[in-house]
Amino acid sequence: MSPSTSLLVVVIAILAALAARTVPHRPLLIVPFYPKPPPALDGPYALNTVLTDLCVDVTLAHPFDLAGAETAIASPDGLSWYTATSAGVVARIDVDGDVDAGTALLTAHPLAYLGGRPLGLALHPELGVVVADAARGLFSVSEETGIVTLLAASVDPEGTDPILYADDVDVDADSGTIYFSDASTIAPWRNADNSFETFEASVKDALEAGHTGRLLAYHPANRSVEVLADGLYFANGVALSEDKTFVVVAETFAARVSRVWLTSDRRGDVEVLIDNLPGYPDGVSAFKETFWISIAAPRSKFLELVHPYAPVKSVFSLLPRWMVPKPRKHGMAIQIDPTGAVVRTLHDPSGEVVPMVTGIHAMAVDRLLIGNLKGDGIILCRGV
Ligand SMILES: *[C@@H]1O[C@H](CO)[C@@H](O)[C@H](O)[C@H]1NC(C)=O
Repeated sequence: MSPSTSLLVVVIAILAALAARTVPHRPLLIVPFYPKPPPALDGPYALNTVLTDLCVDVTLAHPFDLAGAETAIASPDGLSWYTATSAGVVARIDVDGDVDAGTALLTAHPLAYLGGRPLGLALHPELGVVVADAARGLFSVSEETGIVTLLAASVDPEGTDPILYADDVDVDADSGTIYFSDASTIAPWRNADNSFETFEASVKDALEAGHTGRLLAYHPANRSVEVLADGLYFANGVALSEDKTFVVVAETFAARVSRVWLTSDRRGDVEVLIDNLPGYPDGVSAFKETFWISIAAPRSKFLELVHPYAPVKSVFSLLPRWMVPKPRKHGMAIQIDPTGAVVRTLHDPSGEVVPMVTGIHAMAVDRLLIGNLKGDGIILCRGV
């Protein structure tokens, strides 16, 4: 062996020994993946500064920790907002006064402490606030009583098919059916400070390219969970179409958004709605006929360079997190129509106001609530 080869072997052996002691997740089954070259930021994705200019971080004058508010949603009248934090708290924010005039008082009330890692939220006509908790499963929280109910932690009642990474959720208000994603079979693990590590788990999923995500439906009438689709690439944002014929699901690390049909003739069929996005899609929400897609980060040159080479990815999967390139800060949100055509793209290219968009909710055509997994509060955009 040449000296450099020997050195490489020693380095890999040390990393493997370190990893064997500390690996908090299941063994990875890393496979090659061949991403398309990302599209340029022109045409439908042309750069602008809409998010830089028209958004504000709504920092609350309240001693309430909103760190890790990955998603924010609003009641139909816009007067109550809901979010969930990395500390495991589901909170309601009451809006009293005129937000646009800057005279509103925003007060946060903790509704429940789930103790896991709540991510996606939706309002349900009977069950209250429905929560996808990445560490613990699907929950509902009653606003009146504060009672927390575990709806599903497993697909089967016996618990042999656990939901390991519940991520986003949407509700059919007529039937009561809850659609939610189970992003990956790499479950988030606990950090030293007791919080759950969802981000690093997703990085492992990206390197693995194992497409172990799925779209599930929970039927409150008989409390059953149905697997609508599996084999998805990190099943993330979920949104039901206005006509209820399909559910949109973001496949984060394939940089695409797919739809899963619900109609009786095509139930469970998966079809790519928009492919080769300029970034990794996270939360998705429906607004009238359209869908807003949050983009957590622009496409990573590093990740896409190593994607075809499983052994290289295996080495990177063992590196401590500070050695792996961080996602670039660039706020981006894309609106598409039901055919997958881009309606608009909004940017904060500086990442100063909106460094990352992990959740998006349209309160009106020109009014958005944005969540940021790594941020300290909720971002409100007006007049976009
Ligand atoms: C539960 O109800 C849903 C909706 O009515 C139905 O599609 C599903 O088959 C039922 N599941 C079981 C296990 O009974």
